[in-house]
Amino acid sequence: MTEFINPSLVPKRKLITGEEIPCIGMGTFGSDRFSPDQVAQAVAGAIRCGYRMFDCASVYGNEALIGRVFEQALAEGVVQRDELFITSKVWNDMHGKGDVLLSCAKSLQDLQLDYIDAYFVHWPFPNYHAPGCDGDSRNPDSKPFSVERFMETWRQMERLYDLGLVRHIGMSSMTIPKLEAVLPLCRIKPTVIEMELHPCFQQQALFDYVIAHNIQPIGFCPIGSPTRPQRDMTPDDVADIEVPEVVEVAKAHRIHPAVVCLKWAVQRGQIPIPFSVHENEYVSNLRCTTEDPLTDAEMDSLRNAERDCRLIKGQVFLWPGASDWHDLWDEDGVIVE
Ligand SMILES: NC(=O)c1ccc[n+]([C@@H]2O[C@H](COP(=O)([O-])OP(=O)(O)OC[C@H]3O[C@@H](n4cnc5c(N)ncnc54)[C@H](OP(=O)(O)O)[C@@H]3O)[C@@H](O)[C@H]2O)c1
Repeated sequence: MTEFINPSLVPKRKLITGEEIPCIGMGTFGSDRFSPDQVAQAVAGAIRCGYRMFDCASVYGNEALIGRVFEQALAEGVVQRDELFITSKVWNDMHGKGDVLLSCAKSLQDLQLDYIDAYFVHWPFPNYHAPGCDGDSRNPDSKPFSVERFMETWRQMERLYDLGLVRHIGMSSMTIPKLEAVLPLCRIKPTVIEMELHPCFQQQALFDYVIAHNIQPIGFCPIGSPTRPQRDMTPDDVADIEVPEVVEVAKAHRIHPAVVCLKWAVQRGQIPIPFSVHENEYVSNLRCTTEDPLTDAEMDSLRNAERDCRLIKGQVFLWPGASDWHDLWDEDGVIVE
């Protein structure tokens, strides 16, 4: 029988709107390792175990099956709709005029919901690549970031908010220069931002910027995505669960290093969204937020796990004329166009 962790014991984060959401969610990107059905079964198990936040996206290709799980859990009274916080995201090929609304309508239909709790612009580029394509593949139609184009997309996000179809709107994989350019133009500001965050990639400056703007960071790849497909790895990548700073804390607490990454994330203030289809893993990932916190000294020592190791480099979104994936991340403090 699935272990039940009472959701009322799981700490909450307060959004700027005053709404409280769980300090941890479950990721649902099965990549090419897990089928939509396996991910949906994990979501069903996770609801029974006490998860109340799920990070979905149209491009993950499993929203219809996850929607059936939500529908059944709600029908059976396992959970009430207002206890759940469900996210989804518009994919890069649906940024055009009217397309964001269509994409949201499809996600609502697939997820069998009347509203989505937080809806994200998945990437700030309209650049499409075939799912599962090789890391070196490029789409000749790809374009660099444009404030004007992004704001056309954002205006549609604001419209979804006005219509009550989404309760929060968010951005993902942004940089400080991009946020500086677009935030003043937003009629409705993002309340949440997804960004890659794990001990070996802490993005301290962006994290601080987001917090200072009253936006809640949601951290993806919180364990450092240790078993991602080979095509998403480069020789310089570091495995968070193997660095000495993380391993040492894991030994002291007699827990898996993956769980150290999650405790660190929650105590630092981001909302981690770890993925796993394995019940023992997703149970311990939720339970770890309710017990045995890291000490201040351990939190300090984990600062030194920083290796500036970005895992989701986004190279498949590069446009003709771009030099390499660093161009996507505005590392010199100006938007690369
Ligand atoms: N906004 C965006 O652009 C964006 C980008 C990337 C990801 N995301 C979201 O973030 C979620 C998480 O990212 P991710 O799946 O790439 O990486 P992750 O959560 O850092 O790593 C997931 C892997 O860690 C292992 N794991 C999980 N819990 C464990 C435990 N307790 N002990 C040992 N190993 C454990 C599992 O490996 P095994 O399966 O081998 O057991 C699992 O596949 C995604 O599912 C997605 O929802 C969003």
